Amino acid sequence: MSVFARVALAPSDPILGVTDAWRADPRPTKVNLGVGVYYDEQGRLTLLEAVKRAEDVLVAKHHTRGYIPIDGRPDYIRATQHLIFGKDSTLLAENRVVTAQTLGGTGALRTGADFLHSVLPDATVAISRPSWPNHQVLFAAAGFSIVDYPYYDPSTHGVDFAAMTSALAALPPRTVVIVHACCHNPTGADLSPDQWRELAVLLRERELIPFVDMAYQGFDRGISEDAMGIQILLDAGIGTVVIANSYSKSFGLYGERIGALSIVCADAEEAARVRSQVKQTIRATYSNPPTHGAALVATVLEDPELRALWESELATMRDRIKTVRQGLVDRLAVKGRPDFSFVSQQAGMFSYSGLSKAQVARLREEFAIYAVDSGRICVAALNQANLDHVADAIIQVVT
Ligand code: LMR
Repeated sequence: MSVFARVALAPSDPILGVTDAWRADPRPTKVNLGVGVYYDEQGRLTLLEAVKRAEDVLVAKHHTRGYIPIDGRPDYIRATQHLIFGKDSTLLAENRVVTAQTLGGTGALRTGADFLHSVLPDATVAISRPSWPNHQVLFAAAGFSIVDYPYYDPSTHGVDFAAMTSALAALPPRTVVIVHACCHNPTGADLSPDQWRELAVLLRERELIPFVDMAYQGFDRGISEDAMGIQILLDAGIGTVVIANSYSKSFGLYGERIGALSIVCADAEEAARVRSQVKQTIRATYSNPPTHGAALVATVLEDPELRALWESELATMRDRIKTVRQGLVDRLAVKGRPDFSFVSQQAGMFSYSGLSKAQVARLREEFAIYAVDSGRICVAALNQANLDHVADAIIQVVT
């Protein structure tokens, strides 16, 4: 009998599996509202102009491909820290932040999870209900037990902050709490500044450890605005804050797998020890990170002209998403139902549409429109050419 004779067939991934099914669909009108990827008004996945120019600079240099340090390129680490904490951050001046280049935001989450589990083997991880499904999978794979905390209230399409905070207040100290910095995935419902401040006090008083996932910086209000929650946690004096950030969306570098893990420590001496352990974790997983994505990001962020170009391209993406959100709301409003006015209040790439699994299946089967079973739709894939088709299909499946 084969060694693998009893290996069970794993289910397809709830998000990336949708893209596989969409790719295989021969219908010309097909639309992929599954995965969180930004498409332009023509429905194309494009390379940002700032990235193209940085790539030209790098190609002209024909740089060698030696190993880079285990924790990544120093210029990339510096630029990432400035983006998250601000150039004048005292934490950076005090050398209290450990940042490591990782394989996308997912790699940052997993490296952080592995490191935290080595320090806190008995801790639990608390994840919002709902959340990005891979949070649960990767923290469980790192060895944590998982609990969830209420987050979304379908009746208001917003955050149920009272339920969230009372659940968090009941957690034992040193529970790791996953929070989304902005553009909550999948709901698009974020905390207000006042709610962040209240959360910060609660986390500090209950000695809970925030692990902030920031995959969509710049997709709601702006680069520093979208990192506001992190700033509030730090200003509240929380000693340990862990952050995973990603350039997949903000630079359109999905396939380069480029992100970073940052850990705020008590002091420089502690940071040196934490850095050494994070490097061990990386070395035991993939040895050291790849060169190209980090070189691109560092080149763009460190060059004032490219940086300005990137910021304007990011603003264009952000604004277009807001336009198509409104486009969907307006089209459905004209037809009278369903009421999707909440879609224009949500932030980022996603809308938690409230469509049921059965309605999502009908969208796919009858209209070649692909969404996640949870009803999450990626509004960043809407455009003026497909909005009518999508709106009409939604009307059909809710009827
Ligand atoms: C998403 O939620 O669609 C993205 O973060 C892509 C992914 O890896 O799931």
